[in-house]
Amino acid sequence: MPEQSPKAQIDLEDLAIHEGTPVLLRRALAGLTAGELLEVRADSSDFFEALGAWCREEGHCYVGSSGPNCYRIEKGAGTAPVVAPGNHVAESADPNWGLAPRGGKIERGGPKFAFTLCQKRDVWAQELASIYKQAAANQWSAARDIPWSSLPKLPAELEAALAQIMTFLTENEFAALYVPARFIPRIHPHYREVVEVLAVQVADEARHAEAFTWRAEAGGIGLGTTANSGQLSLQTLLEEPDFTTAAFLLCVMGEGTFLTLLTFLEQFAPDPVTATLARLAHRDEARHVAFGMEHLRYVLEREPERRSSLAAAVERRSRMLASVSGLSPYVSDALMILAGGGVAPQQVRAGARQVFLLHREMDAARRDRLHGLGFDSFQATRLSAHHTRNFM
Ligand SMILES: [Fe+2]
Ligand SMILES: [Fe+2]
Repeated sequence: MPEQSPKAQIDLEDLAIHEGTPVLLRRALAGLTAGELLEVRADSSDFFEALGAWCREEGHCYVGSSGPNCYRIEKGAGTAPVVAPGNHVAESADPNWGLAPRGGKIERGGPKFAFTLCQKRDVWAQELASIYKQAAANQWSAARDIPWSSLPKLPAELEAALAQIMTFLTENEFAALYVPARFIPRIHPHYREVVEVLAVQVADEARHAEAFTWRAEAGGIGLGTTANSGQLSLQTLLEEPDFTTAAFLLCVMGEGTFLTLLTFLEQFAPDPVTATLARLAHRDEARHVAFGMEHLRYVLEREPERRSSLAAAVERRSRMLASVSGLSPYVSDALMILAGGGVAPQQVRAGARQVFLLHREMDAARRDRLHGLGFDSFQATRLSAHHTRNFM
């Protein structure tokens, strides 16, 4: 049988194995198929002893010397075969792809990861790239971007009302932080755009919690009271096990309702710090709502029957909270005092009227979003009415 001639040659000159020889060997072998020969010329004195061990480690075969300082390597199967799932977003992601970035090659036989959200329809949404781009461009800092030095000394009853509202907002920010944070480690990294959007959402909520707490403390009153009714409502949100249902309850129903609340707070803010906080938080929340709407649209286009399970989730939550009277008097009173501008009877009357209108606007905006997701008027009215009194 005629001797096989080398498919490629490489001259390593006097480069020693510890000086990076494997880099050049791997590059030369990458262009060969299994069974083909590479001829290596190397003048380094330690090369010959190290080459055999290196070939065994890398899954190749050291064939022998073919002349002075000349050696031959037969390309083997390599350390592990690789798969290349491609750069398109697959309908289903293999848990064995693990943490490999989409579009790259992956060695076979890697560990199986415990991601449970591995189907595109479990997590995907349109417009993810644009939501993420806006989120990255609109990050703000509570220390840098809020006019803290312009905070006036407010009448005690207004400052106390604001401190109570900031306390309520902060509780809700924690819920809005923990819900996406719970799901991130369950989402297969193949759907990285979803993970990226949710990661920024978590960072947004951390900033909101920080900024609202600062506002309560900056007025000298400190934080107010957290009511059981609010805690029970948020607990039902935190415990929702299904991603799509959680996104519906949090982003569409809860954060959607908070958009109206933040507009109200900006409108009635008695100081520029509160107004700026409400405006910046509203900008972030609008993105969170946009993600929720896009995800729900994606799911409902493919599984329209899921509307009934989403409706059931809202109604189930409403039944669980049936014993809870509604928005806590701490928050409700504070909103009326803020909107009325004080505690004189005519101010309270004006404030109560504004809070009545606030509830009506929240309901109208929820029904609009539900229509946008294909719920009919009857369903939208019913679901909006069953939404938690706690807003989130
Ligand atoms: Fe928030
Ligand atoms: Fe949010």
